[in-house]
Amino acid sequence: MAETKIAILGGGNLGVAIALGAAKGNVSSPKNISITRRHLSKIEHLKKNGFKVTTENIEAVTSSRIIILCVQPKQLQGLLQEIAPSLKKGKHILVSTITGISTEEISSHINKEIPIVRAMPNTAIAIGSSMTCICSKNANEKQLKEIQTLFNALGTTLVIEERLMKAATVLAASGIAFFMRYIRAATQGGIQLGFDSEESQLIAVETAKGAASLLLGNHSHPEIEIDKVTTPEGCTIAGLNEMEHQGLSSALIKGIITSFEKINSIKK
Ligand SMILES: NC(=O)c1ccc[n+]([C@@H]2O[C@H](COP(=O)([O-])OP(=O)(O)OC[C@H]3O[C@@H](n4cnc5c(N)ncnc54)[C@H](OP(=O)(O)O)[C@@H]3O)[C@@H](O)[C@H]2O)c1
Repeated sequence: MAETKIAILGGGNLGVAIALGAAKGNVSSPKNISITRRHLSKIEHLKKNGFKVTTENIEAVTSSRIIILCVQPKQLQGLLQEIAPSLKKGKHILVSTITGISTEEISSHINKEIPIVRAMPNTAIAIGSSMTCICSKNANEKQLKEIQTLFNALGTTLVIEERLMKAATVLAASGIAFFMRYIRAATQGGIQLGFDSEESQLIAVETAKGAASLLLGNHSHPEIEIDKVTTPEGCTIAGLNEMEHQGLSSALIKGIITSFEKINSIKK
């Protein structure tokens, strides 16, 4: 896998994070990863790590097998028109990280039966901890597995049906913001109880991490872990029930649904 040639078209926040993660996770060596953008000065520093840095999209496509699209949605059509003549069936796998653009739409721009994989990572990709959902069109099992391996080097990957991509965007990409709000609120509560803000945030963050690790490590359900800390007549159940009286679960579910309704109403 380390010799797989990868072109990342759009070396912005996400593109650079994928390049660094792919090299760190030994998916491919930097010399086999080309990163493109129009204003090179912002990624010139990556040359010293061995990455190929260029403005030439076509050259990057021609010399690579996996092509990862990381431009903004409005920049996609122009980019696809530019590279479409260079895409070869049997050679290339196209990966799109672009929010809200279906594989069908991408396919209609390139007008060739190239395997297309859509990936929805979250910002934790920058530290190799993304929850990334992927779906595909025209890709066989081996090709899909190859892209899954790439994103597994950047966190955890789940293959889903394309109809669930918007839901995945809300749950995993917007989800980062939702969990941040819980952590901020817990930190503020801790400050009121007497911790300084740094201590309080550390306790909130590590507790959130521990809660998530318990579910992953024990393969359990949240209520099983909750049962372990709720002594009858104790302080945990008193706090938890008060949070529910105030609408905690309801607010979170309603927020997720509202976010989903909004993503469905956004016009490209
Ligand atoms: N950030 C995330 O965590 C995240 C998560 C999920 C999905 N996404 C999706 O990923 C995409 C990129 O997001 P981002 O945050 O990385 O955006 P970004 O920082 O704005 O990066 C986009 C990059 O594309 C480059 N670019 C534009 N046109 C180009 C072209 N024709 N050829 C080559 N490069 C070109 C831009 O650089 P120049 O102007 O110098 O060309 C810019 O560096 C978006 O579509 C977003 O929806 C992002």
